[in-house]
Amino acid sequence: MIFDRNENKEVIALLGAGSMGTAIARRFAAGRIVLLGDISEKNLERTANELRYSGYTVETFVVNAMEKESVEAFAKKAASLGPVKYFIDTAGASPNQSRPEHIMRLDGVGTGYALDAFGKVMAAGGAGLVISSQTGYMMRLPDEVELQILKAATDELMDIPYIKETALQNSGYAYIIAKRINHLQAQKAAATTWKERRARINTLSPGVIVTPLAYDEFAAAGDNYQKMIDASAAMRTGSSDEIAEAGAFLLGEHAGFINGTDLLIDGGTIAAIRTGAYTLGA
Ligand SMILES: NC(=O)c1ccc[n+]([C@@H]2O[C@H](COP(=O)([O-])OP(=O)(O)OC[C@H]3O[C@@H](n4cnc5c(N)ncnc54)[C@H](O)[C@@H]3O)[C@@H](O)[C@H]2O)c1
Repeated sequence: MIFDRNENKEVIALLGAGSMGTAIARRFAAGRIVLLGDISEKNLERTANELRYSGYTVETFVVNAMEKESVEAFAKKAASLGPVKYFIDTAGASPNQSRPEHIMRLDGVGTGYALDAFGKVMAAGGAGLVISSQTGYMMRLPDEVELQILKAATDELMDIPYIKETALQNSGYAYIIAKRINHLQAQKAAATTWKERRARINTLSPGVIVTPLAYDEFAAAGDNYQKMIDASAAMRTGSSDEIAEAGAFLLGEHAGFINGTDLLIDGGTIAAIRTGAYTLGA
């Protein structure tokens, strides 16, 4: 049976077919094509089935977000399906899942590849969203390092001395720094390549959101997460649906003047850290 006979459908490209990304994509899926990209065929199949059983049109693509050619092929695939209206990047690994270099190559450099590649194919009036993290607010990078990051081509990021000397020392630092890099990458793309396409790009920085990735973190982090949750004003974890609500706003037409910026959605954890109400554990 053909569920949708309309032609020239707009495309939503989701890089990382996980919990938060899928929740955001669902908000725009009706009447569009959802292109799911993930390194895990199992995750692709699970998410594709979930969306198909909800009546949406879905295509899948195996992509490694850490490899430039693979990400470029994903962007080309998106463009081949129709005008690329939305791009969502949630491909990521948490500190306890991976080694520092892997985190920096995936969460930092990989996001750069994605913004570069989609900066060539976005439709005019389109919008993008990178899922960064509250951790991007946990450490202030020196101004000169932020400038180096803004000026570096994506392939040069790993050569920046601060990245080598600090980010690659442990997975926690790698994650914190990669997520701050996301904010800078979105600023840069908004001002350059995405501007040329007349498309907007922002980041969203979630706090503790219960997903499979977060479960891996909870298991390995002792009582640090519990303390962080208790210290936040919300005093609870967040959900993918709450992130989707904000993501839908940032991607949607009511956010037409929001560009190159970040929205922190953390229940107040960073406020607790900044004010000294909570001190980060090891
Ligand atoms: N869950 C949280 O508490 C939390 C908080 C802040 C930020 N984040 C960030 O949000 C993003 C999404 O996380 P989530 O919690 O929805 O996790 P998730 O595990 O549900 O989704 C992540 C997806 O990325 C995919 N992926 C991993 N490596 C990849 C690669 N090399 N190429 C392509 N795909 C790859 C995984 O297979 C998975 O489907 C991540 O970047 C994460 O760092 C999560």
